[in-house]
Amino acid sequence: MASLKDHCAVVAVVVAICFVVLAAALPSHASTAVDEPAKYKPSRAPAPSPASASSYVPPPVQPVIVVQGVIYCKSCKLRGYNSGMDASPLPNATASLVCYGDAESKYRVLNQTSTATDTNGYFIVMVYDVGMFDCRSCRLYLRSSPTALCAAPFIPSNPKLGLTLVRDRAATAPRGARGIFHPKTALMYAPGTGGKCPPY
Ligand SMILES: *[C@@H]1O[C@H](CO)[C@@H](O)[C@H](O)[C@H]1NC(C)=O
Ligand SMILES: *[C@@H]1O[C@H](CO)[C@@H](O)[C@H](O)[C@H]1NC(C)=O
Repeated sequence: MASLKDHCAVVAVVVAICFVVLAAALPSHASTAVDEPAKYKPSRAPAPSPASASSYVPPPVQPVIVVQGVIYCKSCKLRGYNSGMDASPLPNATASLVCYGDAESKYRVLNQTSTATDTNGYFIVMVYDVGMFDCRSCRLYLRSSPTALCAAPFIPSNPKLGLTLVRDRAATAPRGARGIFHPKTALMYAPGTGGKCPPY
């Protein structure tokens, strides 16, 4: 466990990085997006013409923030067990990303559920409401486990306290991505008091 002091230092650095990165990434008219939340609508790609797949025109690039991570089951030897962490990827679990808007966003709350984790425990949240995303204030929470045998919140252990986000510089950004973030640690469920693990 990092001491509180270390934690704050890390947060301060992350905040500084986030600020610089967001300032650099946001076009000068970014305030427009923040000022007009009511107009937010995930613009759908125009329905591809049924006539032929080859005439498909890619939709215009839409700005997006990507938040990704992994959900594990602690202390259970399931498929993909990692002995160093003593945990296994938990498929079919979900996380939620919660961001609170500032006064400019009229105190809206973004509360988005991730994709269900794949066999590697990997989930993703695509945030198209980019004006609502602030890596200093958004948090990731455990949302659901696919099995009652591994459904006790472990990280974060207090389900009301979410994990802070860190910018992921190594990840390859999809088209339109303004940033890719991951929680500062993996999310984990653990077996309940009985200690029985799921069978898969
Ligand atoms: C995940 O969910 C899908 C669809 O509900 C199901 O077919 C699959 O067996 C589940 N996988 C696990 C590992 O629970
Ligand atoms: C987000 O949505 C989930 C599911 O509806 C809910 O359980 C949770 O309390 C919500 N969180 C916030 C901060 O609104």
